Amino acid sequence: MRFPEGFLFGTATSALQVEGGNVNNDWWEWEHRPGSPVAEVVGDACDHYHRYPEDIALMAELGLNAYRFTIEWARVEPAPGQISYAALAHYRRMLQTCHDHGITPMVSLHHFTLPRWVAEAGGWTSPTTAVRFQAYARLIAIELGDLFSHVFTIVEANMVADNAYLYGIFPPGHVGDAESHQRAQLVLARAHQTARAAIKAERPELLVGSSLSMLAPVIAAGGEDAAHRHLHATLGPYLQVAAEDDFLGVQCYSTQHYGPDGPTESPLGVERTQMWWEFAPEAAADMCRVLATVVPHLPLMISENGIATYDDTRRVEFVQRALAAVSAATQDGVDIRGYLHWSFLDNYEWNLGFRCTFGLVGYDPRTFERTVKPSARAYSEIVRAATSS
Ligand code: BGC
Repeated sequence: MRFPEGFLFGTATSALQVEGGNVNNDWWEWEHRPGSPVAEVVGDACDHYHRYPEDIALMAELGLNAYRFTIEWARVEPAPGQISYAALAHYRRMLQTCHDHGITPMVSLHHFTLPRWVAEAGGWTSPTTAVRFQAYARLIAIELGDLFSHVFTIVEANMVADNAYLYGIFPPGHVGDAESHQRAQLVLARAHQTARAAIKAERPELLVGSSLSMLAPVIAAGGEDAAHRHLHATLGPYLQVAAEDDFLGVQCYSTQHYGPDGPTESPLGVERTQMWWEFAPEAAADMCRVLATVVPHLPLMISENGIATYDDTRRVEFVQRALAAVSAATQDGVDIRGYLHWSFLDNYEWNLGFRCTFGLVGYDPRTFERTVKPSARAYSEIVRAATSS
């Protein structure tokens, strides 16, 4: 497999899903509510907050050269305007540890969790949240921006709005609340744009973007118009917001089939993962090929792609086929700058708890001892072959 010069190979995590002890964000409050729809509480997660030195060392040992993680707003600003310099020092150490191991750190400023006080003041439906978020982004750029290259302001704004206000699986748990959904979309867009401006004003050299959750279209005969209309309606507004960015994060795990009347189910009998998503290793590369025709000027970064399975042999095949497809797309001229596998660890899968295992690396929930899976070795072999030539 061949990849462009400087291609980034890494993994991604989010604070809530791996750190442990994230007691001050809205998810912690939500999962502890009586009658919460969450399968289990996150608790210590993978204890990455304390074990990041060995985790980052392990990434380097595997030959990876990039790592995206969240700088958790709820830790850095636990109360309005009150900055935790200890939390900032923690994330500075994490960033420095990446550099010590030759790993390019990328940061996310919002990956599904808000400080409780922000959520209590209206969360993403309140325009004030965009103002607060911009101040947070400025603070991170000033305090830590000397140590990272890429900033993802908001991870999957489309999922944040949908899961919180349409499907009820993220706090505040509204179902079918179209009005709040629309308001959240506007506030998220504003938050991204003003945060980007603040970051650029402080540190023009930083690359700023966001990421979107996407499903690669598989179009049956006669389904072209319906697929086009659906993609335009669901992704179009978000792509417009991303148009001025330095890159777009592509978070794609599977496919969406289309027939003449619109989206259809995957065919009966297809292989499915623990998430019940169709096993589709080529989906991320296929999605990038589509995006290259829609937003041709935007460099792409596959910022999440992976598979939830207990059977690691399926992940081995997934990683090999996914990267072969990415390599082929880059050879065909699609501007993909990197690939971040989701995820480094068997982390906490939000409302589904720990039962969906996405990790290249497993761990013991009591000792937190890490176990490198064969899929991590398979990924490592591809990276070594690609980076040694
Ligand atoms: C999210 C991750 C999540 C993954 C698998 C992405 O939408 O960014 O936090 O674990 O999908 O569901």
